[in-house]
Amino acid sequence: ARVFRGAFAHSTRDSVLSVHPDFVLGVNEQGKIVFFEDGTNVESLSHQWGFETSDIELLAPHEFFMPGMVDTHIHAPQYAYTGTHLDLPLLDWLNRYTFPVESCYVDLDFAQDIYTKVVKRTLCNGTTTACYFATIHTEASLLLGQIADDFGQRALIGKVCMDQNSMVPNYKEQTDECKDETDRFIHELLKKKYALVKPIVTPRFAISCSSSLLSDLGKIAKNNDLHIQSHISENKEEVQLVKELFPDCTSYTDVYLKHGLLTDKTVMAHGCYLTDEELMIFHEKGAAVSHCPNSNISLISGFLNVRNVLKHKVKLGLGTDVAGGYSPSMLDAIRRAMDTSKALCIQDAQLQPLSYKEAFRLATLGGSEVLSLDDCTGNFEVGKDFDALRVNICVPGSPIDLFPRDDLEVILEKFLNLGDDRNIVKVYVAGKQVVPFS
Ligand code: GUN
Ligand code: FE
Repeated sequence: ARVFRGAFAHSTRDSVLSVHPDFVLGVNEQGKIVFFEDGTNVESLSHQWGFETSDIELLAPHEFFMPGMVDTHIHAPQYAYTGTHLDLPLLDWLNRYTFPVESCYVDLDFAQDIYTKVVKRTLCNGTTTACYFATIHTEASLLLGQIADDFGQRALIGKVCMDQNSMVPNYKEQTDECKDETDRFIHELLKKKYALVKPIVTPRFAISCSSSLLSDLGKIAKNNDLHIQSHISENKEEVQLVKELFPDCTSYTDVYLKHGLLTDKTVMAHGCYLTDEELMIFHEKGAAVSHCPNSNISLISGFLNVRNVLKHKVKLGLGTDVAGGYSPSMLDAIRRAMDTSKALCIQDAQLQPLSYKEAFRLATLGGSEVLSLDDCTGNFEVGKDFDALRVNICVPGSPIDLFPRDDLEVILEKFLNLGDDRNIVKVYVAGKQVVPFS
């Protein structure tokens, strides 16, 4: 139905970065990629697929397509204070800033305002898929799902579960209520039959959840074959407290494992202090890690050794972790991931820094693997949905200067390091143009 011709960059299973200066890509009415081939094949493709070559949308010389980015960990309600409140470590930060703000989402007008802004902001910045934490409130969480659907963002939405250790009195639930509301949330959201928006079971983290609640959530996920998200080993104080709260478990990972929450559809944020033994369990179970480098530095939590996670063949993606991470942009997550890796290299000269190509892969295909969505998004393989960013380096006011000898790889590297939403001139999700907003 639609054909694009020009430069494309993406990652594949076998190649961390493939660049194609002149390719043609066809998208059908269902938004799926039906061909992706060298530009020299355009005549035969036009016969085979019945399109006029005059109908092809040609990219300008300083434009390229890349896959939409996958934010594997973002707290939509925390967008209300993103860019502020970064002066306390995790556990104090949660009680002092996060829980009081999240408690405001009983107010659906407030929720509507902030959730609309976060969905628009992330889409503009090239997040075609987002894995969201909402709040404990079922109605506001459903509203986030509706807003993501309205704007055409692919999303997993989690109603947050927490029944203990909150210092904000009205910001936790009774165990049974939490379980029942999770059931209700899942069934109400599935009933909407949104094409791209699905529920995800969301225990906030071990500290916030009783053993009984964790078990119930494990069962709910299993019975409905659902995704699971939480936090793990983000901060030393947190790891210590989990040890004290769950003395029968051998590690933080063991807490989630014992409660049926570590599956091949699980994504755990941070993981800075996971041991090799724990990473082996992640690998065995097919569970994934969301690397949130901005947050890890902003809350002075720790450094994730990405090289070691990859060595253990654990699925890995990037997350903004708004608002522990102050930027809602996945381009920032790419940059902070490279900074963190280089900081670790200063401490250990044996370590290989993360390349821009690897960071690009983590932000796109890696993220889709983390969310078990790599059958439908993450790159331009035929059969997948067309989730793409049309990037233009030479827009008015562009933060990037181009020089005559810059080839496609250089252009991509400059965009990843220097670009911003001004350079993302169009965003497509499942073949539908979602940015600029209609
Ligand atoms: N651990 C539990 N809840 C949170 C949260 O909201 N943000 C971060 N960064 N870590 C958490
Ligand atoms: Fe988080």
